[in-house]
Amino acid sequence: MKIIMLGAPGAGKGTQAKKIADKYQIPHVSTGDIFRANIKNGTELGKKAKTYMDAGQLVPDELTVDLLMDRISQADCANGYVLDGFPRTIPQAECLEKALSGRNDAVDFAINVEVPDENIVARMSGRRACPACGATYHIVHIPTKVEGICDRCGGELALRDDDKPETVKNRLSVYHTQTKPLIQFYGDKKVLHEVDGTQEMEKVFADIVKVLGE
Ligand code: AP5
Ligand code: MG
Repeated sequence: MKIIMLGAPGAGKGTQAKKIADKYQIPHVSTGDIFRANIKNGTELGKKAKTYMDAGQLVPDELTVDLLMDRISQADCANGYVLDGFPRTIPQAECLEKALSGRNDAVDFAINVEVPDENIVARMSGRRACPACGATYHIVHIPTKVEGICDRCGGELALRDDDKPETVKNRLSVYHTQTKPLIQFYGDKKVLHEVDGTQEMEKVFADIVKVLGE
């Protein structure tokens, strides 16, 4: 099962992709998480990616496409995967399509998690992430048991560098110009499914399971 998560920054792609990965036992592949891991480890790729990410811009396709292709060619992806944050541009989607069609394969589901811009800024400013294990929370909607401390590993939670309101505005505008056209792209391929991402998290997931099957 090859699944793509579409949606604005903060729509809940990562939250839902983790649940999908758990239920269907497929890897959760997030280009954003891969870049953040590289930044944390101080790699050359991380240094390059950080300048774009902190400005709310997309990391150039040259740095992103090979990285993703390499990841999905690993053995654990043989039975499928859920892509979160890729593709983000039409050229990225075309590269993925080309790579898959070379193996007589294609994306099975593109799930668009729909959340209006008005809700996004509030979500992002309330998001807290654990730099140690990658778990994400929300100070109002998904609180931790102890404030500021990760339920899963006990790490200290932090606000993501690109969740400052000014950067969020840039990310939203980049989303509308560069990423939103993918809705039409996957609609044309007849694999697009829309879910209402403003609902409570478990309800969003239930709607996704209706699409993917039990
Ligand atoms: P990336 O990490 O992919 O960020 P993003 O798309 O901006 O998405 P987010 O991770 O911010 O949001 P999300 O949809 O995952 O929401 P979440 O589940 O956390 O990318 C970061 C940067 O990396 C990009 O800006 C770009 O520079 C670069 N990049 C990455 N991929 C790239 C690519 N392919 N090409 C080029 N550049 C690339 O939820 C958000 C918050 O809301 C959380 O606090 C969560 O707890 C809460 N929440 C979730 N669901 C609900 C709900 N139903 N109700 C209430 N609250 C909820
Ligand atoms: Mg995410």
